[in-house]
Amino acid sequence: MFNLKELLKKTDFTNEEIIFLLGLKDPEQCKLLQEEAYRRTTALMGNKVYYRGLIECSNICTSNCRYCGIRKDNHQVRRYEMTKQEIIDQAVWAARNGYASICLQAGERRDEKFISFIEECLREIHKQTVSDVLPDGVGVTLSLGEQTKEVYERWAVASGNRSNLRYLARFETSNADLFSMLHSAKGKYEKILDHRLECLKYLKECGYQVGTGVMIGIPGQTLKDLCMDIRMFQQVDADMIGMGPYLMSEEADLESLGQMENKALFQLSLNMIAVTRLVMGNINIAAATALQVLHPEGREIAIEYGCNVIMPNLSPTKFREGYQLYDHKPGLNDDPFHFGLHLEERIQSRGREVGWNESGSSRKWLMK
Ligand code: 5AD
Repeated sequence: MFNLKELLKKTDFTNEEIIFLLGLKDPEQCKLLQEEAYRRTTALMGNKVYYRGLIECSNICTSNCRYCGIRKDNHQVRRYEMTKQEIIDQAVWAARNGYASICLQAGERRDEKFISFIEECLREIHKQTVSDVLPDGVGVTLSLGEQTKEVYERWAVASGNRSNLRYLARFETSNADLFSMLHSAKGKYEKILDHRLECLKYLKECGYQVGTGVMIGIPGQTLKDLCMDIRMFQQVDADMIGMGPYLMSEEADLESLGQMENKALFQLSLNMIAVTRLVMGNINIAAATALQVLHPEGREIAIEYGCNVIMPNLSPTKFREGYQLYDHKPGLNDDPFHFGLHLEERIQSRGREVGWNESGSSRKWLMK
């Protein structure tokens, strides 16, 4: 139907072409896609892979997303909250050990106690991480769900570092019906796709570099849906994309719908990353931890398919059992203090370098 080699020279694609590329299965053809995505990644973004040290601050959640292992109605999971000191300690350790950027993630909460708690953490993290190496303090990515514009603004101010401030909020799927199905269990707040997209707009207005993304292989999702997801990345003008395979969680509420077979799901996820790179150009794309469930070197392979960001888990190991969004989450016992170095060896073995002490903003954002 299409001449693949010719297609891979293009920078503007039709929906039909995107759907064709997403659906590639033949190993030779997938390799051509991979090579072109890799070539463009290094040409547009350089050879470095940037770390964001992930701190999973709390698994307490007011939402009931049907796919998620820490959803409100899962009473099997023991809920935890890291203390302010624990969060600050991990952030300061990260800043002193070459991580120019950390990511604070937690279950979704909108109460004032939580909002001001995060504010206080941010202020203290900034204060304690300004140094010769990081003159603006450690960069922060927040991944704390849907909030009001005022809250996004408060957190941006508290972070003290607007040049290196990011927010990650996946919209999960651009198909509004599928989004409704995923969020049809009652949580404290209603979840609709339009509101999620509105949040992304607020975040832009507050000066965040905006990261979003989707789950790949959601039951009922088609290649056309994934193509429209990429179109939505363009529409929201994303600076960063983080996306991974949808994986079943026994503690969630979608088990009866099953999950795509691992090998096909892995290839589809890699294709989605590569095509996103081809369409979106010079943005950051993160290699999701979920890829590692499907293949022991899933994240490293994703780097070969167009990713240039990776989020080593810096959460203290004692909390990790409580933060399993999906089954078989890897690295529950990985030592946070050494993991980044082991990972560096695997990244270097693929001809890439780790951007220690560099914020790694997307070229697209820097050029604005
Ligand atoms: N499989 C894959 N990804 C999941 N997430 C939550 N649950 C799952 C699952 N079962 C992802 C969502 C969310 C992010 C924090 O984790 O995309 O945005």
